[in-house]
Amino acid sequence: MENLKVLKNIDKDIWIFEGKAVSFYTMPYTTRMTVIRINKNELWIHSPCELSIELIVELKQIGNVKYILSPNKIHHIYMQDWQEEFPNAKLYSSPGLEEKRKDIKFNSELKNNPEPEWEKEIKQMIFYGSSIMEEVIFLHKKSKTLILGDLIENFDENHFSGIKKIIAKWVGILAPNGKAPVDLRFTFNKKTAGESFNRMMEWNFEKIILSHGIWIKENGKEFAKKSFRWVKNN
Ligand SMILES: [Fe+2]
Repeated sequence: MENLKVLKNIDKDIWIFEGKAVSFYTMPYTTRMTVIRINKNELWIHSPCELSIELIVELKQIGNVKYILSPNKIHHIYMQDWQEEFPNAKLYSSPGLEEKRKDIKFNSELKNNPEPEWEKEIKQMIFYGSSIMEEVIFLHKKSKTLILGDLIENFDENHFSGIKKIIAKWVGILAPNGKAPVDLRFTFNKKTAGESFNRMMEWNFEKIILSHGIWIKENGKEFAKKSFRWVKNN
């Protein structure tokens, strides 16, 4: 087993990296990146965090960075840095991102089904229904891990203080009742969201990795049912 310090191995061939907090509407948003090793030594990167020498060294210990994905049009801040560091990797955008970041050269846009390069190991679908942001979601089959960006946010209540804690509670992003923030929920057609939710729930998962807040280590389906109560047909 590799001796890793910043990447945390959570199951066979899947790691998480806890990134720094970024300011989102003045709220301190901690970020989490997911790394999956596929095809023996290719690394698949979900929501790339800020690069550091330590992180680069550890990634090289576990494989070759090959696929770099932005699952929704908010998670794009470090894509260019990664492209420069790993010029042989392919960059994938999500619905609406290429329009927003015309300065980045993406190889492809993520679709409602997985790319041939990872379909054996990872399932993929678009969670439809929002008028402002459609997120692409994933399942790492063998570790039964669902990977979400902003569709569930679940911060420890001590992460925020004062007025920010009150806002976070109102927005609906405090553990253990974390969900999509209210401003995002309001943009959804609830019936379309319900159809995507039902499709997601057909996937076989136990863990849910989230980009923001406490991730779900077990009983993921129960958590998802509770967290997505806002969709229709639930
Ligand atoms: Fe996010």
